[in-house]
Amino acid sequence: MSTTIDLDEHGYSRSYLADQHAGQLARLRTLERAFDPLSQAVFNQLALPDKPAILDLGAGAGSLAAWLSRRYPGANVTATDIDTRFLADIPGIEVLAHNAATDDFPPASFDVVHARALLCHLTEREALLTRAITWLRPGGWLVIEDVSLEPSLRTANPLFRKVAQAGITLLERSIGSDMLWATQLPCRLRDRGLANVRHRTLEGRIGDNSPADTFWASTTAQAGPALLKLGLLEQDDLDGMATLRADPAFIESALTFVSAWGQVL
Ligand SMILES: C[S@@+](CC[C@H](N)C(=O)[O-])C[C@H]1O[C@@H](n2cnc3c(N)ncnc32)[C@H](O)[C@@H]1O
Repeated sequence: MSTTIDLDEHGYSRSYLADQHAGQLARLRTLERAFDPLSQAVFNQLALPDKPAILDLGAGAGSLAAWLSRRYPGANVTATDIDTRFLADIPGIEVLAHNAATDDFPPASFDVVHARALLCHLTEREALLTRAITWLRPGGWLVIEDVSLEPSLRTANPLFRKVAQAGITLLERSIGSDMLWATQLPCRLRDRGLANVRHRTLEGRIGDNSPADTFWASTTAQAGPALLKLGLLEQDDLDGMATLRADPAFIESALTFVSAWGQVL
């Protein structure tokens, strides 16, 4: 395995979503609160060997990796990230600085390779899917989960649509993210020859005080200065959106959370 954390000027580690940002840990916690129960439900459907070797790529603040180490006693849970600062003190997991876009693992290293809210942000996402499959042992599972913002573009509300489109554009320009990619995930696993491919898509809304709503608001707040700097939104748009979200009459579908998993035979 090689580890070369050598990232260019742009991309995730320099963006408004990166870990050095003051609000980042709190924002990652909102993501975990929204999506951990969904990821855990997927793992609870998988038949895994005793003491499985599990890789969580781009593990962020590590709540899922921590849960995996408790869920599978004796498992070898490896949590990787380009920035491992939030993973340091989690017991029961092995932490590795690793760039998923470029760094490898030896073939057949793991019983599960999992990545959540990572591939949508990597321009190398298609190649990574192919490489990650080689890291699996026979019978091993690839579990990919990602967020699509497609529902937010279907809104009839012009302000919400403008803010949603600006967020998608910002992610695309500053990181190279594709926030509509996740909807095709199951096909992408099938196209790579995985067996027993299954998927589940769940809707997250804003305006309803749900965990998804809190995650959306926290990410939009963190993006605010970059949205203004690039001229994608005005302060009036951000203020208007905050007022709209607080209006009890406003509840809209904002995102889908797609989980897709398949097995190497
Ligand atoms: C949106 S967060 C998701 C964190 C975690 N997977 C979760 O769902 O709670 C994306 C994470 O991917 C990491 N990341 C971004 N680019 C990466 C890369 N090239 N290799 C590994 N991790 C990366 C970021 O540092 C961040 O922790």
